[in-house]
Amino acid sequence: MARVLLENIVKRFGRVVAVDHVNVEVRDKEFMILLGPSGCGKTTTLRIVAGLEFPDEGRVYIDDRDVTDLEPKDRDVAMVFQNYALYPHMTVYQNIAFPLMIRRKKLGLTKADIKKKVLEVAKMLKIEDLLDRKPGQLSGGQQQRVALARTLVRRPKVWLMDEPLSNLDALLRLEMRAELKRLQKTLGITTIYVTHDQAEALSMADRIAVMNKGRIIQVGSPDDVYLRPSHVFVGTFIGSPPMNTIKCVIAKSNNEYILQCSGFQRKIPGGELAGVRDQQEILLGIRPEFIDVYKEPVPGGIKAKILVVEPQGSEVILNVDINPGGEETLLKIKTKYTAKYRTGETIYIKPDWTKISIFDYKTGKSLA
Ligand SMILES: Nc1ncnc2c1ncn2[C@@H]1O[C@H](COP(=O)(O)OP(=O)(O)O)[C@@H](O)[C@H]1O
Ligand SMILES: [Mg+2]
Repeated sequence: MARVLLENIVKRFGRVVAVDHVNVEVRDKEFMILLGPSGCGKTTTLRIVAGLEFPDEGRVYIDDRDVTDLEPKDRDVAMVFQNYALYPHMTVYQNIAFPLMIRRKKLGLTKADIKKKVLEVAKMLKIEDLLDRKPGQLSGGQQQRVALARTLVRRPKVWLMDEPLSNLDALLRLEMRAELKRLQKTLGITTIYVTHDQAEALSMADRIAVMNKGRIIQVGSPDDVYLRPSHVFVGTFIGSPPMNTIKCVIAKSNNEYILQCSGFQRKIPGGELAGVRDQQEILLGIRPEFIDVYKEPVPGGIKAKILVVEPQGSEVILNVDINPGGEETLLKIKTKYTAKYRTGETIYIKPDWTKISIFDYKTGKSLA
């Protein structure tokens, strides 16, 4: 069993606060992904779990053991680096065997035991045929597999990966996502995985911790962060294209709320917006894929003018102005490419009002 607990972690580099009071619990066997833009503190957080960096404040626990001050070798964690960090002068076999060789005495392993373990993990990663080669004789994808094998050969309690797929070409990356996910579940190994790629995070994680500027903004399942973002940052960082945000004002009368946005108004049933003031400025969040498109006027439809059509194969992204004639108000829509759409055409759109988000304009926090 392995649970990882980060408690109030702070890490500064001079005046930069790389990690700012991070609290997160990774459950036993969980695939946790730290997701956020470049520079938000993901790598530093991961290195603190590995013991390659020491926090200025806070504690790190693996199970109930406080490992904050332990060296990496005493933590039973293994980390895959972005650049693979293989030993160039060693063969693939020697690279994979290395973590066992240096612990041979402590683990009481014979050469035959080590060979068995290396072959087992090489088979798991489909690199049995490459064991005699040197890293320089391998493709990027093959090097990646060797790096993964090297971390798994001693079955660590916690598996750490820092953007492990970012150096692979797009097709291989997609293939490896599914393979890694399967491997993680088969081995049942508690995993913390760092990426800036939201699609990767959505497709692989049990839970995602969304980070920005050293802080964790939201922790939740892929559905949670996608459908119920707690902050406008999460809504606009996750999704492709990201969530549309439209500035609106809320008019409150008795127990009724009316969203007043440029181009349309919309009544929202009472009780759904706790603590909203009359005339409060908000950001209305609508995902591009939760909007229906009609060629003819429909009840409740919002009139829009198509500005740009971006075909995506089976889908199409429409860039529209929902306030034609007034101040331009842009919206992106992703819809099935079943009809022909032309630039300049007038259409009618209906957001799925059950799937909208409402954020405070000033703080960005979710209000609904
Ligand atoms: N060794 C270091 N010395 C100084 N600044 C650092 C060091 N490592 C990271 N930083 C800074 O800390 C912040 C977070 O970096 P990092 O954890 O690498 O982010 P991420 O992995 O999310 O891109 C950045 O501003 C980065 O420049
Ligand atoms: Mg990084």
